[in-house]
Amino acid sequence: MKTIPLSIAGAAILAALPAVAQVNVPEPASIPHLEQRGKATQLIVDGRPYLALAAELANSASSNLEYLEPYWSRLVASHVNTVLVAVSWELMEPEPGKFDFSLVDGVIRDARKHNLHLMLLWFGSWKNSMSTYAPPWVKKDPQRYPLLVDQNGNRLNMMSVFYEANWKADASAYRALMRHLREVDGKDRTVLMMQVENEVGVRGAFRDHAPAAEKALNGPVPKELMDYLAKNRDSLIPEIREQWAANGNKTSGTWREVFGGDRRGDGIFMSWYYARYMDRVAAAGKAEYPIPTFVNAALGDWVGQYSSGAALADTLNVWQAAAPHIDILTPCIYRPVFSEWAALFHRAGNPLFIPETRPDPGYAVWAFGEHALIGFSPFAYERSADGATPLARAYDLLGQLAPLILEGQSKGTIRAAVLVPGKQSASVELSGYTFELKRGRGRGAPPANEQAPGPPAGVPVEQGAFASSTGYAMFISTGPDEFIVMGSGAQITFHPNTPGPKTASISTLEEGRYVDGRWVPGRRLNGDDTSLDYSLVEQARLNQSGQGLRFGNDPSIMHITIYRY
Ligand code: DGJ
Repeated sequence: MKTIPLSIAGAAILAALPAVAQVNVPEPASIPHLEQRGKATQLIVDGRPYLALAAELANSASSNLEYLEPYWSRLVASHVNTVLVAVSWELMEPEPGKFDFSLVDGVIRDARKHNLHLMLLWFGSWKNSMSTYAPPWVKKDPQRYPLLVDQNGNRLNMMSVFYEANWKADASAYRALMRHLREVDGKDRTVLMMQVENEVGVRGAFRDHAPAAEKALNGPVPKELMDYLAKNRDSLIPEIREQWAANGNKTSGTWREVFGGDRRGDGIFMSWYYARYMDRVAAAGKAEYPIPTFVNAALGDWVGQYSSGAALADTLNVWQAAAPHIDILTPCIYRPVFSEWAALFHRAGNPLFIPETRPDPGYAVWAFGEHALIGFSPFAYERSADGATPLARAYDLLGQLAPLILEGQSKGTIRAAVLVPGKQSASVELSGYTFELKRGRGRGAPPANEQAPGPPAGVPVEQGAFASSTGYAMFISTGPDEFIVMGSGAQITFHPNTPGPKTASISTLEEGRYVDGRWVPGRRLNGDDTSLDYSLVEQARLNQSGQGLRFGNDPSIMHITIYRY
């Protein structure tokens, strides 16, 4: 154990909170942390990069350990290695300063029993914008813990970010939680990351109109943000650069002067203050036990669908400037188009982690291969989890491949592609070859019972259709002309894209599994098993009879070596 010096911001926040003794934390190197390894930022657990094949529990599941009990083994059977679990402020601090950690302790004990890791979701001041998980002693006292006020002067059920009493109460509870985690988990490290609050932002208004909010709006944009914009002028994301430029690239002024008074300007204003509030909460926790933190955001195309001030991709820079104690901004992807939302969050140095989405294996594989994804986590998955779901089948193989995937992410020797309705082919380039995926002539969509499942019963379907994937493949380059390919519902052809003989062909093709990191071959594939599902005319045209990889709807892993002639 060692004493970690607090950052200046952290020290200032702690000074404002009730005093504690010495801050003891385990040696930083042994604590789960994020680290840049080659081309990827990775989550390091016990000194090694970690791929989170995760699942998030439905909101109320962790409020009762008996209720949760039967689900643990189902998650294990689904090859999940990490479970995202809510910790509710109201249950943890039923009276001011009196903490009850029995649920947290029970969840940690049961996760350990099942060899699972956890990420805890702090449902503190806000859950889906509203302050429903705040303890009654906070909710019932809006004089002391002020609420957000809308444009008509009505109080909404959202704690206002502009009042010190609010963040101090939240930060003090969160800090107690992190102190407790350090004590009970600093050695075993079952808990890997913390989510601070849940899908924050203003709903039903563009901004807060409480007196302190009005004062802030008419005050100067804080110097920290102006300095950040000036310093990072050339690398700002286009959304922020354009909003700043549209209002004259001013280096000082009120919020309205610098960012304008439209919904984007209001969004930037609210983002800064949500981020500052949450940074204070995160800093108080990190001063006790500095495991990585993330915040999540509901996505949408207009305010109402998303919340103003949320940790959205178009305000990435504002959150980064305001919240140095928050490590990752994450999307909850329930809307089309998955790949576009994912890419928007994997910018400006923000690593990609997806804490909530549908249980679609194609997007999981795609994001692990294309965006150095740290973890994938379908929401309320315990309700549908069993070893036979398409995601469970994929998680089994991703678990076997995890060391190779992590190495591929770091070296840039991994790619992936996904097929979705309306996009029946896709191609990727890797190590001198172009690989092309197709569903294949005449096969159409997989039978309904083999498609990635929709939301489990009782989970609300948000607006906008989520297009389930119909096939996918991940390619890992393991040597010259040698690849490991994992796929499902796709047939794959390939051709060289470097100078030399024009035609590429299968030298050897094996199916197999990884057992304890060692390749255990199954059948040697050849003949019919490498003949693609094209017409003979097409096969002749492509010169590819007997020259492709066929993945059925049950995912599998193949090892291929290629030659050219
Ligand atoms: C997003 C929230 O973050 C979750 O807690 C849950 O309410 C889901 N929406 C429901 O789809």
